[in-house]
Amino acid sequence: MTPQLIDPFARAVTYLRVSVTDRCDFRCVYCMSENMTFLPKKELLTLEELDRMCSTFIGLGVEKLRITGGEPLVRKGIMTFFRAMTRHLESGALQELTLTTNGSQLERFADDLFAVGIRRVNVSLDTLDEAKFARITRWGRLSQVLRGIDAALAAGLKIKINTVALKGFNEDELFHLTSWCAERGMDLTFIEVMPMGDLGNEDRLGQYWPLTDLRARLAGEYTVTDLAERTGGPARYVRLEETGQKIGFITPLSHNFCESCNRVRMTCTGALYMCLGQEDMADLRNPLRDHPDEDGPLIAAIHAAIGMKPEGHDFDYSRQKADGQVSRHMSHTGG
Ligand code: GTP
Ligand code: 5AD
Ligand code: SF4
Repeated sequence: MTPQLIDPFARAVTYLRVSVTDRCDFRCVYCMSENMTFLPKKELLTLEELDRMCSTFIGLGVEKLRITGGEPLVRKGIMTFFRAMTRHLESGALQELTLTTNGSQLERFADDLFAVGIRRVNVSLDTLDEAKFARITRWGRLSQVLRGIDAALAAGLKIKINTVALKGFNEDELFHLTSWCAERGMDLTFIEVMPMGDLGNEDRLGQYWPLTDLRARLAGEYTVTDLAERTGGPARYVRLEETGQKIGFITPLSHNFCESCNRVRMTCTGALYMCLGQEDMADLRNPLRDHPDEDGPLIAAIHAAIGMKPEGHDFDYSRQKADGQVSRHMSHTGG
């Protein structure tokens, strides 16, 4: 399908990330505060509304759909939604249906996810140490996630691990995480911590571990080859020749990848954010709910929103503690 969503900088929007819930069974310190107030149910798009919304975007040329949260697998009935999306894979309109998960429910859902046509999942995992895992997630159990990963691999799903690089927290696990992923045939992507959420006493600046440093450390241990490939995402990749493994780096702060941005993200309430690092958003829930039998107003609202997509993000660590902070929680927009 020819992309129909072209932004003012001539970038085609073909990738939609949809947060299906703001809830999560963990409370990662860089993502949520301990006492989160979650949205009342009536604010959320229903499963039918999510279907209509996603199907409309697919009709406008979106080829890749990533379901996120919060934790997408804690949303009630989510498998019904996934099952419904299978029709777009079968018609060829959708090239990829995937999700980003914390892994806690994977043991239960792995086979079903494969059955609906999902072939790849991204699992967030910052440490392989039980005590550190409990600390960063506030109460998560590592063993549960590890069982989920095993179940997903056994079901035939390909896994990419996402690790937020945190100075003083998981620096010492760089090589262990790398070899652990290599043994399981999993790719690994490191993400620079972004100044999201309320900081409280957290010193996000102190936790900032530039990935250039991480890469240099890897190069001390492995032969690191740069890969030209870009998946249309923000990651840059290298291959470790000794293991054949692909390692990604997502560096929104030290390297800006906005020029090739192909995505927008929708919250679980139907707000469309044109950029993760900008506050501008467009409400799509009203055009959807006000016109249950007519897609025209929703399509017009989507076109208008894409026309507002900014050139790039506005993260700036030098303003971390000032008003420039992006105060939205990652769990709202889904990362
Ligand atoms: P694939 O390339 O399909 O594997 O996925 P992805 O990396 O786009 O998705 P994933 O959910 O694994 O994203 C990992 C993290 O990258 C996100 O949670 C964000 O932290 C970051 N990220 C993804 N897209 C953007 C973006 O457009 N801007 C910024 N600043 N960060 C992004
Ligand atoms: N900075 C960087 N990555 C974050 N994530 C959540 N909050 C942040 C943040 N402040 C990551 C999670 C997960 C993905 C969905 O977003 O670890 O991998
Ligand atoms: Fe949940 Fe993911 Fe946020 Fe952690 S980073 S609290 S697992 S949504």
